[in-house]
Amino acid sequence: MSDDGPVLIFDSGIGGLTVLREARMLMPERRFVYIADNAAFPYGDWQEEALLDHLLRLFAQLLEEIRPACVIIACNTAFTLAGAALRERFPETDFVGTVPAIKPAAERTASGLISVLATPVTVKRDYTKGLIESFATHCHARLVGSRYLAALAEDYICGIAVADSALWAEIAPCFVEEESRRTDIVVLACTHYPFLANRFRKLAPWPVDWLNPAEAIAMQAKRVLGSSTAAADGGPNHDFVIFTGENLRPETVRLMQGFGLKIAARRAG
Ligand code: DGL
Repeated sequence: MSDDGPVLIFDSGIGGLTVLREARMLMPERRFVYIADNAAFPYGDWQEEALLDHLLRLFAQLLEEIRPACVIIACNTAFTLAGAALRERFPETDFVGTVPAIKPAAERTASGLISVLATPVTVKRDYTKGLIESFATHCHARLVGSRYLAALAEDYICGIAVADSALWAEIAPCFVEEESRRTDIVVLACTHYPFLANRFRKLAPWPVDWLNPAEAIAMQAKRVLGSSTAAADGGPNHDFVIFTGENLRPETVRLMQGFGLKIAARRAG
């Protein structure tokens, strides 16, 4: 870890941009490097052992090259699997994680019915089940694994038409009615999903709170960084993105540039 290094924000694709946006607002003086592991997207399709191995190898390389002041794993699928192993393997690095926001949802729900919308592997993880056992036993938490939403979010952001029916098929199980009670909070437990939140709002059969943890993650990163010095050349003009794969959609490149990220010439992975 290097005190005056950049903050590294990591995701399999565009999802971590939802966290970058908040992190920039809270820490405008910091420099950010964004890693999109697009060669491995979507993580939701990976077997656990293979993904863990992949992440440990990739981080050995990234930490050596970038020497960040801290790392934000802006991906529920990666962090719920590999967070503990990354911290153990790289003890000198501060990792800020992203986990399904089950605790705040359980604290805020009025109806006692919450849903957790995530990739199929995140909803199956012991980590997620542990969060429910620790914080949400007093309410009913429905786990909804979505195979396609992360890819649909990438399509949507690239201007590809995404049908309401395709989105509704993925989110419909989130809406539970039991006697006079209805789901009142849906946890967006994949960082890609906030890009679709406006579409979700239009499709919802009744209003719910779509809980996006991005701001809380950015606040945690700010706490972790404390008073460490920001890089002298801080600010968005110096931020860049590294893609791990070759096949880039022009729209994705433009989106990253719109976020003030220069495309790095080299590719990790
Ligand atoms: N953005 C990632 C997450 O928060 C997952 C997307 C993927 O399936 O790769 O879980």
